[in-house]
Amino acid sequence: MEVALTVNGEAVTAQAPPRQHLADFLREQLGLTGTHIGCEHGVCGACTVRLDGDIVRGCLVLAVQASGGVVETIEGVSDTGEIADLQAAFEARNALQCGYCTPGMLLTAQELLAANPRPDRDAIRDHMSGNYCRCTGYHAIVDAVDATARQRSEGAR
Ligand code: FES
Ligand code: FES
Repeated sequence: MEVALTVNGEAVTAQAPPRQHLADFLREQLGLTGTHIGCEHGVCGACTVRLDGDIVRGCLVLAVQASGGVVETIEGVSDTGEIADLQAAFEARNALQCGYCTPGMLLTAQELLAANPRPDRDAIRDHMSGNYCRCTGYHAIVDAVDATARQRSEGAR
């Protein structure tokens, strides 16, 4: 089936099997392998992407369902510089080890900070609770998001 999308600002048309999910479509048809696949059951958050401005689980949306939509992946969000400070904070605080969860973590953290510029640590943990990490123990991730929030709010003064 034909799928036509805007992906990271570019119009894309490609064929997809009817039951192929968006995360596989991005990886296999478009080569955007920053979107990871973990559980494929909507549990782990590794496949997080933005669809029409909202983060979604790429494994729970069929590519054909997303047709006509605007998709942003970790590649696109990184290229625009939108999350450069968040990425730097993750690196500075060792908030990633294997990095498998990191694209989803970054997109989810960015969603939180857009809605709530100064969340407390409980709010950060709560918002990030749908993204699983097998390596870090989460503390450093919360530190990195908290530090970015502080830095952005100080910069906005
Ligand atoms: Fe989609 Fe785990 S791969 S939520
Ligand atoms: Fe390895 Fe999170 S850094 S799963």
